[in-house]
Amino acid sequence: MERKPLIAGNWKMYKTPAESEEAARRLAELTRGLTGADVLVAPAHTALVLVSRALAGSDVLLGAQNLHWEKEGAFTGEISAQMLVGSGCSHVIIGHSERRQYFGETDETVRRRVEAALEAGLVPIVCVGETLEERKSGDTLKVLDKQISGGLKKIFLKDGHSLVVAYEPVWAIGTGLTATPQEAQEAHAHIRKRLAGLYGETTAAAIRILYGGSVKPENIRELMARPDIDGALVGGASLAPETFARIARFGETESGLST
Ligand code: PGA
Repeated sequence: MERKPLIAGNWKMYKTPAESEEAARRLAELTRGLTGADVLVAPAHTALVLVSRALAGSDVLLGAQNLHWEKEGAFTGEISAQMLVGSGCSHVIIGHSERRQYFGETDETVRRRVEAALEAGLVPIVCVGETLEERKSGDTLKVLDKQISGGLKKIFLKDGHSLVVAYEPVWAIGTGLTATPQEAQEAHAHIRKRLAGLYGETTAAAIRILYGGSVKPENIRELMARPDIDGALVGGASLAPETFARIARFGETESGLST
């Protein structure tokens, strides 16, 4: 099964709306004509509309970093799936480890957000990954199983629904430490097996599984060479459009030809 790579940038809590707009414009220029991968950016909520306009006419996709599961209501500070759709988003990151770690995200709240996103026609990018302690104690696969079965419980993928999973070992996020391509491949293959258990082999074979954790231009190629690594969720290295575009163009030689 051919899966087109997806290179997604998570800008986290960086960049004002004006800075985001400028970076998005630059990224659109730098990725013009790129056919080897889909490219996506996820700016802060406050920048979504401006970035959506800056990306108009380009192939760069727009994602948000979180959403609330209710459609509307008295939920001060929260943002609904419909609001994201209205701001130009096609994707939304859900269950990032920083949300799990600092904002009380659980597998059940991930599940609710995934359900709301799919219902609104957004593609959820569901993040899973183990902490260093969990890896050291040999619990990596057990943790992934729990996050996947909890986060996707009773989530049915109907026609037209699509889902992306991001494997992000917590110890590799923003630390400069990357899982080895072999470690990442093992986790990805395991995740795909679990997805096959939930949705069947054909659907699981079509789901893109991204790797995240200190991805940079220097390590993207070796990661992408692994069969179950279908793209990257990039934090720090997505902030500078030049660096991020180099990651997105991982499949090209310097002269722009496909390798
Ligand atoms: P990083 O972040 O690339 O800065 O390690 C990845 C992420 O948190 O998605």
